[in-house]
Amino acid sequence: MSATDSTHEAEPTRRDFIHIMAGAATVVGVAGVAVPLIDQMNPDASVLALSTKEVDLSSLEVGQAIKVMWQGKPVFIRRRTAEEIRTVEATPISDLKDPVARNDNLSGKFDAEDKNRVIKPEYIVVVGVCTHLGCVPLGTSQGEVRGDFGGWFCPCHGSHYDNSGRIRKGPAPQNLEVPKYIFATDTTIRIG
Ligand code: FES
Repeated sequence: MSATDSTHEAEPTRRDFIHIMAGAATVVGVAGVAVPLIDQMNPDASVLALSTKEVDLSSLEVGQAIKVMWQGKPVFIRRRTAEEIRTVEATPISDLKDPVARNDNLSGKFDAEDKNRVIKPEYIVVVGVCTHLGCVPLGTSQGEVRGDFGGWFCPCHGSHYDNSGRIRKGPAPQNLEVPKYIFATDTTIRIG
């Protein structure tokens, strides 16, 4: 190889220069498209706010329950009495119609012991949709029938849930679902 050849290889010709510039323009173009696409894939604050729900429980008294709406579904939250906690904790799994925890905060299969249905035993949080045909059970507002097990009662076809939201009697096949939630503070939960 002559000295002239090696100089020729080292220095880009005008044609190489055009190719390099075209390549650079393509990279910039792709990056320019990619940024808005990635941006669109990140949910903004308003979308996140819709998918989660903060509930202040500080004024909920022992023995009281409330219903809140989350993603178009009712969610029941009951602050259970010591007696109510004792009763559901003492219930043997063999008495349960549905032995599965159905708790979205747990991954894997857990049995429906009360401890697998709550974060703090004082509060039970369940989606208020009957697992039979989707009615909203009674028992959250004061004075409403709570069924034979003191939790919730679905009058549509007579399903009785206990204070852990577990189906105990009637046609509903499954326990009320425990939605994903965390305690954001000692007395505030964030659902979703
Ligand atoms: S929908 Fe609740 S018992 Fe049928």
